[in-house]
Amino acid sequence: MSEQPSAAYSVRAVLQRLESLRRAGVTHLPKSPAGADPALAVSAPESSRLPHEPMPRKTAQKTSSPAAAFRVEALAELERRVAACTRCGELAASRTQTVFGAGNPSARLVFVGEAPGADEDRQGEPFVGRAGMLLTDIIEKGMKLRRSDVYICNILRCRPPGNRTPLPVEAANCREHLDAQLAIIQPEFICCLGAVAAQNLLGVSTPIGQLRGRFLDYQGIKVLCTYHPAYVLRNPAAKRHVWDDIQMLMAEMGLKVPKKSK
Ligand code: URA
Repeated sequence: MSEQPSAAYSVRAVLQRLESLRRAGVTHLPKSPAGADPALAVSAPESSRLPHEPMPRKTAQKTSSPAAAFRVEALAELERRVAACTRCGELAASRTQTVFGAGNPSARLVFVGEAPGADEDRQGEPFVGRAGMLLTDIIEKGMKLRRSDVYICNILRCRPPGNRTPLPVEAANCREHLDAQLAIIQPEFICCLGAVAAQNLLGVSTPIGQLRGRFLDYQGIKVLCTYHPAYVLRNPAAKRHVWDDIQMLMAEMGLKVPKKSK
C-alpha cells in the first residue's frame, strides 16, 4: 500500500523555518501584516518557540492576524489528510466520517476528549451529544466563554465501534494528527477530559483521580486534567471536582473566577 504523505510534513517544514529564523535572531512574531511570515505562528519545542504578541487577558482568543489565517489554512489541509486516513482499518471501515476537531484555530485553550461517539460520527463534530452539551455548559455557563473561543478535539478522530475504549495502537496511529493540530494551534492550555485523554496525551497510566487538580506539562503547554463529562453524567458527585478543576484553569488563564458563595 502506498504510504500517504505525513500529516505532520508541512508542520515539520514550518518548524524548520521557524528554527532557522530563531537562529538568525528573529525573536518576535511580526505585528504588522506587511511582510509578516505566517509560518512564525506554528508551534515548536519551548526552546525554539517564539513569543506570541501580548494577549488581552480577558478574552480566550488570540488576535486575528496573518498567523491566525495561517492556522486556518494549515488546519484545513490537515483535516483533508485526516479524512483520507485509513491507518486503523476497522475504524476507517465502520466510521460515517472522521471527526477532526472544531473551534478557534488560534485558541488559547484546547479540550481533548477520548473519541467520537455515535452523535459525533453522524455530525462530524466533537462533543455534540449529551456529554457535549455538558461540556458546552462548562465552557459557556461556567467559564463564560463561547464554545467557538476554544478548540475541541479527541485522542481519536474515528468512532470506535460500540463506543469501546480506544486501543493503544489506534491512539498511537492518531497521535500524529493530534500533535499536528496542537503544533498549528499552539495553545497555552490543554484540558484533558477523562482518563483516556489524560493518560494518552501524557503517556502515563496514573489514575485520573491523581492526575486531576494540578497543572502538568506537555511540551511547554499547561495541562489540566479533569473527569470526562460522560462520567459526570453518570456520577453527579464528580461535578464539584470538575468545577474546582475548571476554576483552577480559569484562574491560570487570567479569567474571572466567581467568588465562592458562603
Ligand atoms: N466523548 C468524547 O470523548 N468525545 C466526543 O467527541 C464525544 C464524546
